[in-house]
Amino acid sequence: MCGIIGYNGLEEPVSLVLEALSRLEYRGYDSAGVAYFDKEKKIEVVRASGKLAGLVAACEGRSGVSGSAIGHIRWATHGAPTEENAHPHRSGPIVVVHNGIIENDRELRETLSREGFVFSSETDTEVVAHLVHRFFRETGSLSESVRLALREISGSYALAVLCEERPGEIVAVRRGAPLLLGEGENAYFFASDVPAFLKWTRKVMPLPPDVMAVVGPEGLSLLPVDGGSPLLPLFEEVPWDPVAAEKGHYRHFMEKEIFEGPRAIMDTLEGRLGPGHGRVMLSELSRLGPSPPEIVFVACGTSYHAALLGRLMIESLSDIAVRVEIASEFRYRPLRIRKGAWVVGITQSGETADTLGALEHARREGFLTLAVTNVPGSSVTREAEATLLTRAGPEIGVASTKAFIAQITAVWLLALHLGRREAEKTRQALEILVRAPARFEGFLGSLDLPALDRLAEKIAASRFVIFIGRGLDYPLAIEGALKLKEITYRPADGYPGGELKHGPIALIEPGVLVVAPLVDPDLAAKEWSNIREVEARGGTVVTVASPAPGQPLPSYLLPERNGWEGVFLATAILQLLSYRTAVLMGNDVDQPRNLAKSVTVE
Ligand code: M6R
Repeated sequence: MCGIIGYNGLEEPVSLVLEALSRLEYRGYDSAGVAYFDKEKKIEVVRASGKLAGLVAACEGRSGVSGSAIGHIRWATHGAPTEENAHPHRSGPIVVVHNGIIENDRELRETLSREGFVFSSETDTEVVAHLVHRFFRETGSLSESVRLALREISGSYALAVLCEERPGEIVAVRRGAPLLLGEGENAYFFASDVPAFLKWTRKVMPLPPDVMAVVGPEGLSLLPVDGGSPLLPLFEEVPWDPVAAEKGHYRHFMEKEIFEGPRAIMDTLEGRLGPGHGRVMLSELSRLGPSPPEIVFVACGTSYHAALLGRLMIESLSDIAVRVEIASEFRYRPLRIRKGAWVVGITQSGETADTLGALEHARREGFLTLAVTNVPGSSVTREAEATLLTRAGPEIGVASTKAFIAQITAVWLLALHLGRREAEKTRQALEILVRAPARFEGFLGSLDLPALDRLAEKIAASRFVIFIGRGLDYPLAIEGALKLKEITYRPADGYPGGELKHGPIALIEPGVLVVAPLVDPDLAAKEWSNIREVEARGGTVVTVASPAPGQPLPSYLLPERNGWEGVFLATAILQLLSYRTAVLMGNDVDQPRNLAKSVTVE
């Protein structure tokens, strides 16, 4: 949820930390703060409530000296999004930023208060600052104080800690929350996500849990919290381009990322198609052994919708039973799945607490687990036995777009990899997938923008929007509804088209709009019947479809081919409709209210 940054190097730290935070703003935007050393070697802490712009204004004219600095962007869990609750938190010489939740903060608060520590915020993080301070008084060593403090706390954390009496030192540690380490020229970076420091370095190492990264005059040491032998740092170059984390000529990241969909497909296919593109080779799965009798997808939000498409694709090409589960529910249920089943977690960020919890649940019960994720080195890659990377590049907009396209590509590849039963169907599906990036690109290059704007106006003028779809169109419908809710705040829901008559049709009246993607060749005719039922009751309908004989002209026309390839095209149209409606309404598209990009709390 929150984002943290730590820096140790020769550059002016205030502007560097602010710039790094701007790459993490998608993780939270309730408040922000920075701590740095001034010319007198005193730590200055500057904090502001609200979006990062507030902190940037508060830092106007400020600069620090080279050495260590930390920064934070907050998605509030404990305490309102006020300046007092903004990080960094301070106790004497100790200053701390934190992402995660300290679960025993009440008990610790009472103990520390009895000991005379005075709390100035409602956050759970402040206990960490006081604890480290308590141990620093006793030991005089920053890393030792952090180590002792960690013994007292339970919960999840990524922490970066400075000490006024140790300028030039910084200590960072994580458990259950992400923290990446970057090695630059004469500099080290710590951040919740790679884009924060991509401008300065691509050399990245995920910090293992319960290992303290200590940077000081002697350079970097990695010290296990339990006192074991130091680890050797192993940095790897990430293939991400720093420009991928910039908006370029687009108005919003979301818009740019929608147009990066074809690239996301192409990169996700790279190296996974055999000679002559005749078959799919997912060497990543070799560790899992032969095809399973059952696959259980676990995921949240948009990733759950990709899993629903995965089910349809795998079922159509193989005889493997497939289930799709909401991760937050699955993780607390007894496992009643077939022996030998694979549990597949789909997660863009690789950090979603519920998906990690669901995979852990399955692994504990002896099931093989596979992660489908966009972030190399993320927590899920360590949790699962095998990882299938989607390669959408960094996704900054909170509303997932290109990552969804890449997830669809990945589950499509998985279906092709497992597809043994339907050889001819598998061959056709592979052919379509190979051609998809070029066709999708061509489609996005010839969009009917006036038509999209007319439809966006219709949506903006509606009180409630119902998305319907059958077969392949059902996941698209519920994903369309989620996207619209997220960035326009317009009430919206998605239903299987056939369910409408079992209840939701009662909602149809003036002011309620029905949006229907129709790309499933086998079920489109039935969905058109559902549309008629809506129109017969005076409802207005927006359709996204190819021309079909005997049916009215669609509101947004797709090219004359549909089926699996149409999934990409209709998805892009639904994403663009939400995007253009939100822009029309003047909303903050990339940072919608109350949301955060990666949800690392339950
Ligand atoms: O990182 P994950 O894919 O695990 O995230 C899951 C959801 O939080 C995410 O898809 C969320 O629904 C997006 N904001 C959708 O646009």
